[in-house]
Order: sequence, then C-alpha cells, then structure tokens
Amino acid sequence: MKTTKLLTLIFLLTTVSLTAQNPVIIPGTLSGTEFILNLQNGTFQFYNGTNTTTMGVNGHILGPTLIMQKGDFVDITVNNNLDDTTTIHWHGMHVSAENDGGPHTFILSGESWNPQFTVMDKAGTYWYHPHLHEKTNKHVSLGIAGFIIVKDEEEAALELPRTYGIDDFPLVIQTKDFDANKQIVTPSNADDVLMVNATIDPSLDVPAQVVRFRLLNGSSQRVFNIGLSANLTFYQIGTDGGLLNEPLALTRLQMAPGERAEILIDFDGMEGQAVQLMSYASEFQNGIYGATNPGMMQFMTLDGYKPNALNGTNFDIIEFNVVAQTSDPVTLVPTTLVEVTPYPEESADITRTLNFSPSQMGPDQLNHPFLINGTSFNMDIINYTIPLNNIEIWSIFNQSAIAHPFHIHDVQFFVLDRNGVSPPASEQGRKDVILIKPMETVRFITQFTDFANDPVPYMLHCHMLVHEDGG
Ligand code: C2O
Ligand code: CU
Repeated sequence: MKTTKLLTLIFLLTTVSLTAQNPVIIPGTLSGTEFILNLQNGTFQFYNGTNTTTMGVNGHILGPTLIMQKGDFVDITVNNNLDDTTTIHWHGMHVSAENDGGPHTFILSGESWNPQFTVMDKAGTYWYHPHLHEKTNKHVSLGIAGFIIVKDEEEAALELPRTYGIDDFPLVIQTKDFDANKQIVTPSNADDVLMVNATIDPSLDVPAQVVRFRLLNGSSQRVFNIGLSANLTFYQIGTDGGLLNEPLALTRLQMAPGERAEILIDFDGMEGQAVQLMSYASEFQNGIYGATNPGMMQFMTLDGYKPNALNGTNFDIIEFNVVAQTSDPVTLVPTTLVEVTPYPEESADITRTLNFSPSQMGPDQLNHPFLINGTSFNMDIINYTIPLNNIEIWSIFNQSAIAHPFHIHDVQFFVLDRNGVSPPASEQGRKDVILIKPMETVRFITQFTDFANDPVPYMLHCHMLVHEDGG
C-alpha cells in the first residue's frame, strides 16, 4: 500500500517536470509613423486541437508590438471589426485626452478611429488595450493587448541589448480562467492558467550574453513577485515610464496589473543551462491578489479564488534555455543609464487626498465594487479639474482590505513615500501604476503639462480590471 502511494507520488512528480514546453510566441512588429490596427474576433488554440474564442489585433490573439520614435508624429487607424463597441488606450503615454482612448472615445462596431499625436515619451515600454467602461476586462481577457516600444536618442547611446526577438524580448504575463470547453471565463477570480505572450508552459531560447526583457503584467487582477530560479540576480533598468538612473541588482520585483519593468539577465557562460523566470507568490503577505488570502484578514473571501494552485505558491512563468552567443553580444550590464529627476516636493501647487474604500463593509467586501472618495465612476462627471501645468502631490490611502494598483492617465509620476518611508529603489523611476496595500498611504508627485480638454477627461482608476469595470 505504502509503496503504491510512493510510486504514484514519484510518477506525479515526473509528469510535472516533463510538462511540454512550448516556444513562446514573439509578437510581430509595426514601425514607422503610420499604424493600422484591425480589432477582430478570432479563435486561438491555447490547447492543442481545441479552439478558444478570442479577440486580437491584426490576428487572432494579442496585437503587434508598435515601435515608435520619440518626436515622431504618428497616425494610427484603429478599425473596430468586433461585434462590440470598444476603445484603445495608449497606456503610459503622454497624449492629449482626445487621443488617449479612454472610455469617452469609443469606437462603434464597424467604425474607425484615427488618433494622431507626437510621441513625447522617453524610451520605454508602454502598451495598448481596450478601455470601454464595464467591458475592459472582457476585451483584454479575450486577447486585446499589445506592446508599444518607444525609442529615443538617450537610450540609443547606451550599450544595451535592443535587437527585437534576438536579445530584446517583450513578455506579457497573464493569467486566465478557462471553462470545461476551454473557453475564457470573464470576469473570474479563478484564473489558474498562466501564459506568456498567449503561450501556456512557455520556453524561450536566449543567447549566452546580456539579454533584455520587457515585462508587462497584463493580467486582469493577479500580482506577481518576479524572481529567477536559484534566486539568481537580475538587473532592473526601467520602470513604467522609461529607464532608471542606473541598473538595480535584484532578486525580487513585485509587478501589479498594468506595471512594466525592463530587466537584464546576464546569461554569459551559461550555454546549455536552463533558468526559470518565476513568481515567488508564497512570499506575499495576505491582502494581495495572488497571496494565499486575497483579503487582509483570513476570513475575507473572494468568490472563486480558492482553490487555485497559483495562490500563495511559487510557480514558473517561463523557462529560458541558454543557447550560443550571437555574433555581436552585449556582455556587460552598464553601470549608469539616464538621468531621471523627480519634481522636488516643495514645488507642488496642491496636495489632493484620495481614499479607497469598499462599497460594502465587512468580510464580503472583496466581492463588491470599491470607491474613491466615497464615489464610483460616472461617464458624465469630471471629478477633478486640474489647472494646466500644475505640479501636484496625490496622497492615496487604501482603506480597503485588498491591495489596488492605482493608475493615472496622461502623466508619469514619482513616488514620494509609502506610509512615510521612501519607496524601494525599483519604484523610484517614472511610474504610472503603483500598488497600494491595505491600510497604506502612498504619496506621489507629478505635473500636468501640455494638454487641457474640457469635455474629454483623463482617467484615474484601479488597474485590477474587475475593480475598474466596477467603477
Ligand atoms: Cu491601462 Cu486606464 O489603463
Ligand atoms: Cu482595485
């Protein structure tokens, strides 16, 4: 009896380690100044032989990576060939409100939208995704999302890997919930399937040199605690809005929905070895979506959250297989990057306070919408009128039992402090999303330059898409 059990256990362990690895899909690219994006219904085989209904851009799932040059005037045609109204938002980019693609700038089914703007952002990793009120989660979960890589002269002058698909890879990390017929369930708190660039059990051949990864947490709700197998060191070089002052040697990097990070991994001398990019979610304290308990208190439940093998455990995200060097490899991690200078705190014109609270108190609060300053989103109400060029401190207190990734359009901000303490170095760059834990106050400073618009507002919201759609 005992022997049988032991054998079963060994068999199970072997099966797990033999899980098929699928070469990760690398999205195609579009570059130049004219971009055509066709939003379309699709079908995609996440699982061999089974068609899943999806949405994609110029294809069945996800969308092409848009490569833009700072200073260029770009002209984008978005054709909505879906059966539903939607919008496309350029997350993290500094564009005028009418070009920003928020919920007020919707594209009816069968119609087109033609935003045009000058790329004013620093070199970095941005992304695009739908933003229709109450439908954002559905449209993103079914597959609409893509990278935007902005290039500039400052970045070009650095010795960094930048050959797309060779030593510079975009990786969008997402979890989804599939039903018994392998169709995507949305909304859901039972997202137990992890994928990178729409590939389940992904692997990637990487050259034995310094390689750059542009990580995006494109999940609806889940937070990741990024690390490498064997706790290998990696180097963060960029935050949401571009490069840091200098590379940061890290073994962990927390990434909430909407956040991006550019990292370097030095695979020099490791040919033939495998390295896993992981999430060390076992280290999360309760009160984070991805921890053992999503609420701060153990008795708080979230429908569908348990059981789920991704909650509160460490798991692999993607396997890197180290292969031969390329002919012109980058072999050193640079010592400095660009100059990033935060606004001095004394320069602020105003401090605004925002308070996140549950709409229903008590142990069931995670299953209900959340409020900002006691109110929820209304398409017809503009909550803040900001004088152009204002420098502002926003002080945000999370009075709910779950961490919320706060996001604001139009600007990049600098985090001043978390509960009065300077943020970790990995949060000291330009940011547009910041995770605010239960009972935490986060203060940031930013300036609202260049664009003012009376009828079309910019959005501020939680980037957990279920909370966003909840208003
Ligand atoms: Cu990534 Cu308001 O969105
Ligand atoms: Cu939230």
